[in-house]
Amino acid sequence: MIVGPASQILGVRIAQELGIESINTEIKKFPDGENYLRINIEDETLIAGKEVIIVQSTGPSASADQNARLMELFMMIDSIKRMGAAKIIAVIPYLAYARQDKIFRPGESQFANSILHLINNFNIDELYSVDVHSPIILNECSCKAINIDSMKLLADYIKSKEASDIVVVAPDKGAIERSQALAKHLGENIPVEVFEKVRDVKTGEIKMSGIVNLRDKDVVISDDIIATGGTMATAINLAKASGAKKIYVVATHALMLEQAKFRILKAGADEIIGTDSIDNEVCKVSLAKIIADYLK
Ligand code: R5P
Repeated sequence: MIVGPASQILGVRIAQELGIESINTEIKKFPDGENYLRINIEDETLIAGKEVIIVQSTGPSASADQNARLMELFMMIDSIKRMGAAKIIAVIPYLAYARQDKIFRPGESQFANSILHLINNFNIDELYSVDVHSPIILNECSCKAINIDSMKLLADYIKSKEASDIVVVAPDKGAIERSQALAKHLGENIPVEVFEKVRDVKTGEIKMSGIVNLRDKDVVISDDIIATGGTMATAINLAKASGAKKIYVVATHALMLEQAKFRILKAGADEIIGTDSIDNEVCKVSLAKIIADYLK
């Protein structure tokens, strides 16, 4: 297994689940801004003829943006191919650009699809991702492509918190299906409420509405991604105004960009829960076992 620089926690955990060796990488940025990556091995024959799994999420963080993470991914695939791997499996828990899956304004690129076309150029054998924003984009893959559902894992974590009288809230229509799945895993007849979110496609400004009674309820607000925290903070405000008691904020890919932690906690969240799709301080749920089970 090659553990990419963006997925050090998850990569090692998956390798441990599978009982296979893990190798990391060496990275740097050249003065002109180009990325550099080498697989941290001295003997290239170790790769020849082997089935190789590469784990690299492509989310932005303080240390690298998603473009750098994609380049590192491409470099890992390219070098593994050059060394003669028999099979290449890419595990990309967070797929960069997945939210650019539609044309929102004239003149735009539907770049989510193009990212998969770029990956197709490397002729990998299998791709695994997790809770892709619009899973349908995986149809663009020329290889086997699987979208792994992490809702049971997130539900198990919430259950360990002994929350009572739970209501799951989807902060927008796009989050309905995942929120319903989460509610099912939380127990019988857990209600799901949906807020209406309108994002100005020019300014990014969010307006949210929804009339629900959350009096004395423990509320779980669930989304696929937390980026700047604007969606979650607005949903928390609305849930609080609707009477919510405790508020758990749950996302598969908690990128926590800019002032997201401040905004969400200040709005009144009791806890922010993410997965190790993104290596950061809110990654409380590991995807390692479920990914390893698919890989087995
Ligand atoms: C968009 O539809 C996604 O599901 C998330 O709601 C969105 O990416 C969150 O972004 P932010 O945290 O910046 O509001």
